Amino acid sequence: MADLLNVLQEKLSGKNVKIVLPEGEDERVLTAATQLQESDYVSPIVLGNEEKIKSLAEEKSLNLTNIEIIDPSSSDLKPELVDEFVERRKGKATKEQAEEMLDNVNYFGTMLVYTGKAAGLVSGAAHSTGDTVRPALQIIKTKPGVSKTSGIFFMIKDDEQYIFGDCAINPELDAQGLAEIAVESAKSALSFGMEPKVAMLSFSTKGSAKSDDVTKVQEALKLAQEKVQSDNIENVVIDGEFQFDAAIVPSVAEKKAPGAKIQGDANVFIFPSLEAGNIGYKIAQRLGGYDAVGPVLQGLNSPVNDLSRGCSTEDVYNLSIITAAQSLQ
Ligand SMILES: CC(C)(COP(=O)(O)OP(=O)(O)OC[C@H]1O[C@@H](n2cnc3c(N)ncnc32)[C@H](O)[C@@H]1OP(=O)(O)O)[C@@H](O)C(=O)NCCC(=O)NCCS
Repeated sequence: MADLLNVLQEKLSGKNVKIVLPEGEDERVLTAATQLQESDYVSPIVLGNEEKIKSLAEEKSLNLTNIEIIDPSSSDLKPELVDEFVERRKGKATKEQAEEMLDNVNYFGTMLVYTGKAAGLVSGAAHSTGDTVRPALQIIKTKPGVSKTSGIFFMIKDDEQYIFGDCAINPELDAQGLAEIAVESAKSALSFGMEPKVAMLSFSTKGSAKSDDVTKVQEALKLAQEKVQSDNIENVVIDGEFQFDAAIVPSVAEKKAPGAKIQGDANVFIFPSLEAGNIGYKIAQRLGGYDAVGPVLQGLNSPVNDLSRGCSTEDVYNLSIITAAQSLQ
């Protein structure tokens, strides 16, 4: 974790990237905001009721000097953001609905990002994943050529660093969606300084089992490999389908997948379903002792990231650094 953060902090030095933290009334978030403000990496914008935030700061002896606090319901920015929202939603929200929706800190914060008043957003300490990411899906939307946002975790222990995806967003995925997530995960790995060896995971290795689920992963592999080639993405290896052990243990790969491009040295793991991905990262975290950093959302036009409701102040700080780094890419 320290290595990844050091690299990102070096890139962010002196940049003071504006990141919105919509949950300013949460102690963990407000504490992280004061720590971020003390750095020159991130300049936080905190949302919430100003009186509540100030009294929380007083109670916890937090220094709010130079921290921008915005109360969505009384902000001068609201009328402009309401108009922009109605325009962006193109008939899906009336002005009255927009006025009500923008009282919600996540919608307001996402509009700050959409209108360029902030570079990214970190929320979810007090909201579900759905409530955190839905405004981003509706307003910020995916980059050209990407149809699905997905969520990866960096799984980190000592000097080992892996990416697991999709662990957060897509309950339903076809082969096309799975292929897109593999390619986006490879690009994320590249942008965070890794050389991606992407394993498409299954309960089958190179045709050892037959079922519709296995066929889906095999089709996704073919589509992902074609996309990497047609988009000229260099330094990316994608192979599969692999059981997890064949993807990560060289001696198992030798037996189960001789001749495969990945020989037990995968570092990006694409799970065949959200269930597998979400359960998989938690097993690595809870039984394997890996730090799970994320979910970091990929494929959006601007970075928005989701915290877990059990997060710590350190998690808020770290995800804000990652979000700021994503905004520079
Ligand atoms: C992501 C999620 C919140 C979207 O839920 P939703 O609001 O029911 O989605 P909808 O189908 O109503 O779509 C809302 C908008 O988001 C878009 N959208 C939905 N999923 C998307 C995706 N994966 N990528 C990009 N856009 C997406 C839709 O196109 C729609 O846009 P529109 O309103 O402009 O037409 C939902 O899929 C979800 O809850 N996923 C699981 C999250 C979770 O619990 N993870 C485990 C914990 S980490």
